[in-house]
Amino acid sequence: MPSPVSPSTPGRIAVVGSLNLDYFTRVDALPRPGETVAASKLTLFRGGKGANQAVAAARQGATVSLIGCVGADEGGAAYLRSLEEEGIALDHVRVVPGETGSAFITVDRAGENMIVIAPGANFELRRPEIQKARSLIESCDVLLCQFEVPTPALVEAIQIANRAGVTVVINPSPLHPAFPWEEILTDYLIANETEAEALLGFEPTASATEEITERLRELRTNTLIVTRGGDPTLSFSREGAFHEVPVLTVLPVDTVGAGDAFAGCFSARIAQGTSLDSALRAANCAGALTTLGAGAQDPMPGRGLVDQHETFLPRHP
Ligand code: RIB
Repeated sequence: MPSPVSPSTPGRIAVVGSLNLDYFTRVDALPRPGETVAASKLTLFRGGKGANQAVAAARQGATVSLIGCVGADEGGAAYLRSLEEEGIALDHVRVVPGETGSAFITVDRAGENMIVIAPGANFELRRPEIQKARSLIESCDVLLCQFEVPTPALVEAIQIANRAGVTVVINPSPLHPAFPWEEILTDYLIANETEAEALLGFEPTASATEEITERLRELRTNTLIVTRGGDPTLSFSREGAFHEVPVLTVLPVDTVGAGDAFAGCFSARIAQGTSLDSALRAANCAGALTTLGAGAQDPMPGRGLVDQHETFLPRHP
């Protein structure tokens, strides 16, 4: 097996996003509306799409700063200590009165999940906090955002990055139908199939490349990346280029955090100067490997493991 190659630059990433405490239960089958089901036990993990993606990027060797809010509670303090251990800079994580965000996650036997979120402190992230982080954002290679924090804060951060020529990666999850795409420019938009279909207004398939190109112009986005679980990842550029990138075949334990591992790893590789194709191959491996353990952050792989698995991917799907 080839030894992993270190990037010539670690890549600097600012992540604007959420921190949640994930209350995790496992059941045989997800409850239907009105149904009560019993789980064997309750486990507490660290989560939130922002922090998950920050951890995923840091494990790829990137220099990562997180911008967000936690509550002034025991869980928030413990969470910050664990992010420090990951080497993530927390100068722009504000501790606010009230509770740290929570997510209630149930996973079934097949690894499918249901998530309900109580945003708590995440909803306290405002434009002034973002303005305080202006020089941090301007000095990054990549700004990485998701949609679990208030939109005005996200728009402010993205506009700072746009003016400074910083690459913007957006994972629009959970999708807000009214997000003001016309106010920002996006370099890479990473969506799952459901999100991509909602954004485009039609199914993202290779045969729809022309319509997708048109829609990307309206969304002021350069490249749309569509993750599809066990199927190859698709990428469509505003210039009409289309790529299909193979994924690892795995038997998932749980899929929570797989999309975050993908977005964090992809952003790290782009910040390190990797080509789009290599970044997508690495991100596919990071996403798949994250499904092999419970919780979002614990199973996220390091750079060496991702590089080893990348060599197992076929060159063409
Ligand atoms: O993407 C997975 C994450 O979504 C979980 O960690 C949970 O906190 C929710 O934000």
